[in-house]
Amino acid sequence: MPQLLSLSRAARLAGVTRAELQRRIRHGELTTFEGEIDIVDLLRVYPSVSLEKTGKLEQVERIKAEALPRSHDGDTALPTPEVLLARIKSLGEALARKAAQADAQAALLEELRTRLAANGRPDDSGLLSWLDARCAEIDTLPAEDGRARLLAKDTFLRIMSASIKIIPSGHEFFVDGTESILEAAVRAGLRLGYGCASGNCGECKARVVSGEVTRISEHDYVLSEREKQMGYMLTCCNTAVTDVVLEASEARTAGDLPQQDIRAQIRKLEPEGDELMLLHVQTPRTQTLRFMAGQRVLLSLEDGASRELPIASCPCNGRNLQFSLRRGGDAFGEQLFRHRPIRQMIRVQGPVGDFVLDESSTAPAVFIAIGDGIAPVKSLIEHAISIDQIEAFHLYWSVDAPGGHYHERWCRALRETLDNFAFTPLVDAAPADVAALLQVDLPALHDPRYYIAGPASAARACAEALQAAGVPMHQVEVEAQT
Ligand code: FES
Repeated sequence: MPQLLSLSRAARLAGVTRAELQRRIRHGELTTFEGEIDIVDLLRVYPSVSLEKTGKLEQVERIKAEALPRSHDGDTALPTPEVLLARIKSLGEALARKAAQADAQAALLEELRTRLAANGRPDDSGLLSWLDARCAEIDTLPAEDGRARLLAKDTFLRIMSASIKIIPSGHEFFVDGTESILEAAVRAGLRLGYGCASGNCGECKARVVSGEVTRISEHDYVLSEREKQMGYMLTCCNTAVTDVVLEASEARTAGDLPQQDIRAQIRKLEPEGDELMLLHVQTPRTQTLRFMAGQRVLLSLEDGASRELPIASCPCNGRNLQFSLRRGGDAFGEQLFRHRPIRQMIRVQGPVGDFVLDESSTAPAVFIAIGDGIAPVKSLIEHAISIDQIEAFHLYWSVDAPGGHYHERWCRALRETLDNFAFTPLVDAAPADVAALLQVDLPALHDPRYYIAGPASAARACAEALQAAGVPMHQVEVEAQT
């Protein structure tokens, strides 16, 4: 019987991203059985699975970690001793079951051998010799057999982290270290329902269909006896001991997210020349902003000066928000540029906007940022990395003048780390030139999605140029900034 692994577990074992496995599946290099991969097939494509950490996946994890709140930056790689013990116990029980099965199968083989020998028919003696030869082969399998190595790594990873599968969506993610199920879901780019993230509101309630969870923090919210019997628990206060299947609803569209009004704090202002600053805003620990990558919020200072801005950071870190801020000439820009009010209150209202990633598609994504259109595009790209299902990314960023790519370090870091990310900086590129360049650079892309963000007239002109080049408009999303 084939030993099957979920896509997420197979990716972790092989040390590659899920997007790479999906690409190989689409290209017929790997086969799946109801969405799962046979260990033997995985070993055929990745024969050198090792117990050591593997390069690419580690690098991708590091990029994701950079988008995470401070509470994740510390030494949280190890689960608590209680969780470790529970996982080792659960694996020990599974091992004991396997050992009992192996003993029973050995006894069955022995009985079969005895019966064949007792029959004394010529046909049976051939079968008996074949059986003996196969058993001898299995007995002398080398200790360094690839399959054994892979199973050893799988066992190690199951002790270090547990996988969660959400139904009905089928989304999967891993719970690492001491994090709660909710924290792990947010880090993975999923939009499970939640409110306070601290056990008070009950909005993160979900039902455990199979597997074992354990409480990691107390909560004031009271679950009814009936809810407990049905397997309900709070994802913000529990972690996974074993692999878990969880019934939980997820926000699918921008309209599914609640409108929020948060009193946050200006954490940092990073000048990028005289006219631009990177604005870092931090929400209270119990009130992270739930938004979709590419959306905007209204920011208001204590004196009422306000401006709507696209969020330039990943929804996987709803506590630390980043924005690109031009001086602009309004009261909001003047206050921040003149007085640099670090640690002052700033109100965050929203989110709004529907310039969001098409998560139903694994097709390559082409991002075209014009000027400060890089802000929502950066958020989209960080989210796309977080959900790890898009085959390839291409970023074209056009600015007015040389030296204007103020997120260039971020772009280059992604390009150096991700095999499937390409970055092309442009200066003062006309929309028709961008469309022509795409045709030369990406002639063989199958069914790509295009995301264009920038000043309204330039963004629309770029979309029209793509349309004139034969791109169907249903594959193009435009954020026309005013
Ligand atoms: S999010 Fe409020 S109780 Fe979990």
